[in-house]
Amino acid sequence: MGLQMELRGDLVGLADDGGGPLAVGHCHPTVVQAAHEQNLMLNTNSRYLHDNIVDYAQRLSETLPEELSVFYFLNSGSEANDLALRLARQCTGHQDVVVLDHAYHGHLSSLIDISPYKFRDLDGQKEWVHVAPLPDTYRGPYREDHPNPAEAYANEVKQVISIAQEKGRKLAAFFAESLPSVGGQIIPPAGYFSQVAEHIRKAGGLFVADEIQVGFGRVGKHFWAFQLEGENFVPDIVTMGKCIGNGHPVACVATTQAVSRAFEATGVEYFNTFGGNPVSCAVGLAVLDVLKTEQLQAHAANVGSFLMEHLSQQKAKHPIIGDVRGSGLFIGVDLIKDETLRTPATEEAEYLVSRLKENYILLSTDGPGRNVLKFKPPMCFSLDNAQHVVAKIDDILTDMEEKVRSCKTLKIQPNSVKHLSEETQPTQIQQDGKLTSTLKIKQV
Ligand SMILES: Cc1ncc(COP(=O)(O)O)c(C=O)c1O
Repeated sequence: MGLQMELRGDLVGLADDGGGPLAVGHCHPTVVQAAHEQNLMLNTNSRYLHDNIVDYAQRLSETLPEELSVFYFLNSGSEANDLALRLARQCTGHQDVVVLDHAYHGHLSSLIDISPYKFRDLDGQKEWVHVAPLPDTYRGPYREDHPNPAEAYANEVKQVISIAQEKGRKLAAFFAESLPSVGGQIIPPAGYFSQVAEHIRKAGGLFVADEIQVGFGRVGKHFWAFQLEGENFVPDIVTMGKCIGNGHPVACVATTQAVSRAFEATGVEYFNTFGGNPVSCAVGLAVLDVLKTEQLQAHAANVGSFLMEHLSQQKAKHPIIGDVRGSGLFIGVDLIKDETLRTPATEEAEYLVSRLKENYILLSTDGPGRNVLKFKPPMCFSLDNAQHVVAKIDDILTDMEEKVRSCKTLKIQPNSVKHLSEETQPTQIQQDGKLTSTLKIKQV
């Protein structure tokens, strides 16, 4: 197994920025060696056909439904989604896109336009972009007590499509992460994506599954997160990035013959200087080899369920943990201020993340309220790593609760408050002593 979490001392990277794109572990020797050997031999642009690109497409096709048999190689997830957009527009002759709220699909101008997470703070929503609610059964309009949340959320997409069509708009695609990560580590209800695919196809559009964060065995049960939807569900386009190259810039778009033929019909060839170069493909092949030989998909399933179980035990202990959800090594812990309203505990999440960092654990937050702890470690993350992280979270939450309790006691005895420094004073504490948004605790 490659280097696990030990990157200089005991740094444990669980977040996307802490190691998530490193599928098989930092500096995995097999991957490093494959890049080195191919670099010694030849690297060139992809105008010249090299065996590696063919072998790599072949190996990727073995992981996908057979309809997805055409592969385009690129250098980043953003490039992959931009090409997916071009393919969908060319194939359908339509321009418009439906996306999920709070989605992020990349940094190119075309993708900022279909990323509510970004465009809401920039130029706003373009007329060709249509936003459907996140299928969030914890905090969204249809929750765990709804009889059919999949249908209810899919109907929201249907309605978004109808409203667009009434304005004379024509849909090219529905874009979504197979598990919306930026939206808060959301696990859509089973059946949702199949119904959405029906609605978008009926409107003449294609279904694009963004697997850039969630693909390559991370979800444990399957190699691709869209497969959680069932065997019969096949997107028209799948985009891949991040983990695909274990840190090396590689990306891929997989699609059907029909979509690619429509794209080629323009006579304008697809060319990408470094996309699919021999070194990148050697790296991609090595990542697939390591995933297989080290059985990292099964490992993700085992460690992921262990981690979920232990985090759920923490939920029973700490009221700030509202929800623990996930699949394999893709897990979200939703922190709340109060059980009834499920108000995001944004500041508390930020505080927890900073305390974890002091303990050499890198974790980030996601979701509209920036209150969902994001677990997306390299897939070699071990049971020991999981235990260690959960123990630290437990310690910090216990400490936070203790501080709130003592502040509350001091507040009840007004005279004692003056002994506290400015920084340790909570400006607001609920009756039940739970943490609130204005809690300011500094370690003393
Ligand atoms: C879901 C998703 N899609 C696309 C991208 C863009 O990938 P890249 O940063 O490699 O261009 C990202 C990056 O964070 C992402 O999280």
